[in-house]
Amino acid sequence: MSESSIEKNVPVVKQSFARYKAHNIIEEGDLVVVYLSKENMVIIRVQDGEYFNCKFGTYKHADMIGLEYGTKLGSSTGRGFLYLLYPTPELWTLVLPHRTQILYIADISFVMNFLNLRPGMSMIESGTGSGSFSHSIARTLAPTGHLYTFEYHQERANAATKEFAQHELSDLITVECRDVCKDGFGLENMVDAVFLDLPAPWEAVASAKKAFKQDKIGKICTFSPCIEQISRTVTSLSENGFVDIQMYECLIRFNEIRVIPMWTIDEAMEKQRAIEKKRKRAVPREVSSKIKSARTEVSVDDSNTSSTVATPTSTAGLDSEESTSATMSLSTTEADVVPEPRERIDPQNITVTKLPMEQRGHTSYLMFATLPPALQRPSLAEQKANQGGN
Ligand SMILES: C[S@@+](CC[C@H](N)C(=O)[O-])C[C@H]1O[C@@H](n2cnc3c(N)ncnc32)[C@H](O)[C@@H]1O
Repeated sequence: MSESSIEKNVPVVKQSFARYKAHNIIEEGDLVVVYLSKENMVIIRVQDGEYFNCKFGTYKHADMIGLEYGTKLGSSTGRGFLYLLYPTPELWTLVLPHRTQILYIADISFVMNFLNLRPGMSMIESGTGSGSFSHSIARTLAPTGHLYTFEYHQERANAATKEFAQHELSDLITVECRDVCKDGFGLENMVDAVFLDLPAPWEAVASAKKAFKQDKIGKICTFSPCIEQISRTVTSLSENGFVDIQMYECLIRFNEIRVIPMWTIDEAMEKQRAIEKKRKRAVPREVSSKIKSARTEVSVDDSNTSSTVATPTSTAGLDSEESTSATMSLSTTEADVVPEPRERIDPQNITVTKLPMEQRGHTSYLMFATLPPALQRPSLAEQKANQGGN
């Protein structure tokens, strides 16, 4: 779509990571994720007079203004193209400045699903880190829900606050700089869900329990790379009256798609015969190199002597067996100069998936638990009695 096609009376809606724009047009000041390939994306703020340089050449920002998000833009050199994408939480996760390790989409989508997050809910997250997960949470809770995110590292808390403002998420997220393990969350009877990405999540469980809405079911998730952390968290969750404690690990498995020929038995046998025939005719490498050097000698001798004396010299350095085969090969090689017409076999192609031999990608263990409404929680004494009974 060209610049002239932007309707003049479209109200200026600030770009937000929590929703798409109604008109889907790139405007001056917008963030755009420039997609060069799956592994190569960058985020830029579009400004008239600025340029974007990449391996395909130089792109004027001015040329992007007025285009629709999703546009494929060729370079002036004609050497390549890129896509102009709307900045979503999924893409932000791939282009954000890393201040810490972050959560990626596989874990993010799994956690949000298992916490049953919905618009209008309230939630706690700690630590904020690079704000990767916060963006996805905010969009899911929008427009009426709220995320309380806690980070004890002052600079990280400040950077996250600034980014959330730039991404029009300030109404949905409150950032607090606080050590939640030492000082707790300072919230009571407020939230539906809690997510802990901390080195010692078990130290924050008791405070999280107070923060949950006491008359509703609450869901908690902790994200820990080591099984020892999981073990301590299970104990703490259990002691605090959480039930239905489950652990998951989320791994991505790529399925490589391939198109392969599907031979019939007759075709496969025909192909095999052709291979055998070719193999029999082939000259072993060491023999072929001796033949080559012998030929060179022949041509040197030819310049001084008659060609009849050159034949025995041409197989010098080969034992008798090699000599015979070399002589045969010489004639075969010469015969091969005119290639035999090859029979073409066109097999049917089928599409298959290939799975990787090894499965990598452990990030962390995900621990989920449920806090029943206060009236339905068993007392610690009842829990102990139940455990003893098991
Ligand atoms: C791995 S990062 C979180 C990354 C985040 N989930 C994301 O997707 O970007 C863990 C963060 O927790 C913070 N942190 C660690 N212990 C904390 C505590 N007791 N209170 C608050 N924040 C804490 C660290 O400073 C760090 O920034």
